[in-house]
Amino acid sequence: MKKLKMTINARDKISHINREIYGNFTEHLGRCIYNGIYVGEDSDIPNTRGIRNDIVEAFKEIGMPVLRWPGGCFADEYHWRDGIGEKSQRPKMINTNWGGVTEDNSFGTHEFFDLCEQVGCEPYIAGNVGSGTVEELSKWVEYMTSDSICPMADERRKNGREKAWKLKYLGIGNENWGCGGNMTPEYYVSLYKQFRSFCKNHSGNELYPIACGPNSSDYNWTEVMMKNLKSQYQWQAKGLALHFYSIPDWNNKGKATEFDEDEYYRLLGTVYFTDELLTRHTEVMNRYDPDCEVALIVDEWGNWFDVEDGTNPGFLFQQNAMRDAITAAISLNTFNAHSGRVKMANIAQAVNVLQSVILTEGEALVKTPTFYVFKLFKGHQEGELVYSHIENEKISSYNVPAVSQSVSVKDNVMTVTLSNCSLNEDYEIETDILGFDAKQAEAQIINAEVHAFNDFNKQEQVTAKPYEVKVEGGKLKLTLPACSVVAVTLK
Ligand code: AHR
Repeated sequence: MKKLKMTINARDKISHINREIYGNFTEHLGRCIYNGIYVGEDSDIPNTRGIRNDIVEAFKEIGMPVLRWPGGCFADEYHWRDGIGEKSQRPKMINTNWGGVTEDNSFGTHEFFDLCEQVGCEPYIAGNVGSGTVEELSKWVEYMTSDSICPMADERRKNGREKAWKLKYLGIGNENWGCGGNMTPEYYVSLYKQFRSFCKNHSGNELYPIACGPNSSDYNWTEVMMKNLKSQYQWQAKGLALHFYSIPDWNNKGKATEFDEDEYYRLLGTVYFTDELLTRHTEVMNRYDPDCEVALIVDEWGNWFDVEDGTNPGFLFQQNAMRDAITAAISLNTFNAHSGRVKMANIAQAVNVLQSVILTEGEALVKTPTFYVFKLFKGHQEGELVYSHIENEKISSYNVPAVSQSVSVKDNVMTVTLSNCSLNEDYEIETDILGFDAKQAEAQIINAEVHAFNDFNKQEQVTAKPYEVKVEGGKLKLTLPACSVVAVTLK
């Protein structure tokens, strides 16, 4: 077995890991909301006001900190007034982006906040810029957050919600370089500032406005935004939203559970590119904002494969294999590494769409390999990232690092997360720990054949299990089996 040496220095604190890095994204797309999260009050599936109880429990299990809604491309076609009031009276619309299905608007603002309250997570609203108006978004913010006597708050009260909700995260548009209006950055940044000016802080609520950021490596978009986002000496946004999907070949995305070794390592190469992407966008942002007042928000990320056979191509339903666990671990370790600038990330999407943490089929619910990675990485939320280094090796023709890692400390507990991407090499990792007196270690592992996945009504193939590791005389020793993700908690 090969040996790799790792060093941790807990005295070297690098940045704070916001819990929002472990966020999720939900859209009116396929079976994410309808027949996924929301089944309606009359469903036989146990629910609370239409929201599936097992999904709420699963979201709580991974400590889901924030949920983005209602899109995605759908956000720039969504008119919030269609989704309030008596359900039978709500207008129907065509979801032109996603399969041309009828949207009955039975899941709207009240239902979304109810979901967030049941889960105990922060709501993140994506507002309509592409086909909406300044007035429409301004009134939505007032509807959600004002406790005054004013038309919007009165209407909310009439619709059954007396107290205003707290809303921090407000996205102003989605992918406005694409489905959100095909705009240039110069045009969008002016529009952004106009919309932002009329989204007010009501009744003590403080918005954290987020501007549409770049598509993957469009560094020019970041440049133009950062050059123009300041007015009256103040940043007009607190976040800039980057979207990055791991897709090595747009014309041939491949299947979630059927792939060969070459496709596997090629995908990993794309996932590891996240590090370069964040580094370069951060470099641009640092030039304009050295004090990190504007965060990079990765509010859509994950693997995007071809849909499962026999499913609607517009619904983006894909299975989730052990490979997804490996790539999720690499991505989350990378976000931790960039947590000085990256303050939120939202995997796409929470349920039944793309790289989901949950899949459903009727009453059946599956916790995916990606779900277990989020569960194992929970200890990093609100931790302090500390220095760690592995004398790594590069593997495959795509030259990817064999092991990815990150280490944080919170309340005198150290969390170490590692993934071994190699399909055939186990590694013995010996770690010197400086500045932290580790006496006890507990660990969990996710380890399965790379194609393994969890299927409906079958025993789980990929799950988290307790794992034995040793800590002695300031050294942590463990074996990292091929194709595995491990989280160690040290006290
Ligand atoms: O997550 C699916 C889609 O991907 C979103 O609607 C859009 O923002 C992105 O292109």
